[in-house]
Amino acid sequence: MSEKTDPANPLQNIEDWEDFVETASYPEPGEKLKDAYRDYDNPARDTVREFYRLNHAYQTYAFVKGKKDEFVYSENKRRSMSILEAIDYLNTLIDDSDPDIDLPQLQHLLQTSEAIRLKGYDDWFVLTGLIHDLGKVLCLFGEPQWAVVGDTFPVGCRFSEKIVYPEFFEANPDSKDPRYNTRLGVYEEGCGLRNVEMSWGHDEYMYHQVKDYLPEPALYMIRYHSFYAWHREGEYTFLTDDHDREMLPWVKRFNPFDLYTKCPKEPDWDELQSYYKDLISKYLPSEMEW
Ligand SMILES: [Fe+2]
Ligand SMILES: [Fe+2]
Repeated sequence: MSEKTDPANPLQNIEDWEDFVETASYPEPGEKLKDAYRDYDNPARDTVREFYRLNHAYQTYAFVKGKKDEFVYSENKRRSMSILEAIDYLNTLIDDSDPDIDLPQLQHLLQTSEAIRLKGYDDWFVLTGLIHDLGKVLCLFGEPQWAVVGDTFPVGCRFSEKIVYPEFFEANPDSKDPRYNTRLGVYEEGCGLRNVEMSWGHDEYMYHQVKDYLPEPALYMIRYHSFYAWHREGEYTFLTDDHDREMLPWVKRFNPFDLYTKCPKEPDWDELQSYYKDLISKYLPSEMEW
């Protein structure tokens, strides 16, 4: 991919924002977020900063509604693919900028799912690890990075100061719009996250792809795995209900598998493929519309 020169896609690799979350985006609990993360010794940091500048400026309530119409509710789909085909397709996303350090998407998915399997969790949890990022195929449908990856957050109400780079919300028209810039915005106290519009990206998209097939904790892990302001910072609890509180431990349980699983020995897809084929067909249709 030629992301280097594309101003709409500042990240050289779409995983950069996750590395950023892992290393520096959130302070220890109780510590205040720093004003700026600019780090001249680490140019990758600046591409993450530029990424969030775009993300925070453009993820508005209207934008999210439009993307859901386009990708969730519209009958016009782009491709018909099985899960395995989608994994193959996503794997073509690897950019050629630095093959030494960048994990192919398949490896990230497999390392996540295998780590979950090794812990002896239920098979649907393993499957969740395998598919949690498949929504990133949005990039291959021409969507810009800022509308595919990155931390997610509710739109339609005031943006939390605990979201990374909160200062970039200044440029988001919703932060000046009285319908959307109050604590509750368009929502009611305790309405439940299922009634809250989240910033658009691979999490929300993939949730809609599999919502009819997987157990509820799996759906929460897929839908909210990038909602750090909630699962790490404890923000937005005024929007949550008992069901969200019940599911939160699952989202937290999933996070370390997603962020910190980097096995020294790469799982061998050829060896594992038949196990995963069976697992996929146990829960998901053989062909899906994307
Ligand atoms: Fe993700
Ligand atoms: Fe992931």
